[in-house]
Amino acid sequence: MLQAKGIYKRYQQRQVLKGVSMEVFCGEMLAIVGASGAGKSTLLQIMGTLDQPDEGEIIFQGEVIHRLAKQKLAAFRNKRLGFVFQHHNLLPEFSAEENIWMPALISGEAIDQVKARARDLMERLGLAQIVGQKPSQLSGGEQQRVAIARALINQPDLLLADEPTGNLDQKNASALHELLLELRKTYQQTIVVVTHNQELARLADRKMTMSEGVLIEH
Ligand SMILES: Nc1ncnc2c1ncn2[C@@H]1O[C@H](COP(=O)(O)OP(=O)(O)OP(=O)(O)O)[C@@H](O)[C@H]1O
Ligand SMILES: [Mg+2]
Repeated sequence: MLQAKGIYKRYQQRQVLKGVSMEVFCGEMLAIVGASGAGKSTLLQIMGTLDQPDEGEIIFQGEVIHRLAKQKLAAFRNKRLGFVFQHHNLLPEFSAEENIWMPALISGEAIDQVKARARDLMERLGLAQIVGQKPSQLSGGEQQRVAIARALINQPDLLLADEPTGNLDQKNASALHELLLELRKTYQQTIVVVTHNQELARLADRKMTMSEGVLIEH
């Protein structure tokens, strides 16, 4: 589904990515692990075309995507990718439910359809009680689950999740693991997840470690 070829990325004096090459296959859950600061989020942002590599290519379903024009790229991301950011980036002035609707409304879908799908996701993520609350009125774990529902609302081809269990307690983390596994099984959802959570990494189909600016497969 997605290929990264020879990705290099430098921030000031620091060469963070030193020729990362990898492939994400349709329907799999791939876990990326590695020490803090190793470059996992950097790679995920580049895979999701939110950041540009200094060198290398990102190929999505056969198409070189990172060089698409800005507007095309935004539409591509909106329709094909779902993001769960490490810092969940919810819009503070909107309710939980409205945050979840946002990507679908941006893509021009009718509100009734969007509402129904959002309700279903919220139900499954244990968020039914907090639909009307603003992000500042939610716990860290609830905010994270809202971010996950938002990432899934457009039924993306590829879900990119950066430490989705970071703020969750054991119970909610396990529920999220189950949800990810269910998505993969029921909808053949392709998932790339960056995680420090050993259990989640173990549940994945494949695990890769970011180390010294390259990815190593186990
Ligand atoms: N916008 C930026 N400007 C300068 N340096 C950056 C920027 N983004 C990341 N870095 C640096 O790149 C390195 C890799 O950061 P990255 O966020 O990819 O790490 P990570 O593996 O996701 O770590 P963590 O597990 O703590 O989230 C770090 O040393 C970080 O300071
Ligand atoms: Mg990170």
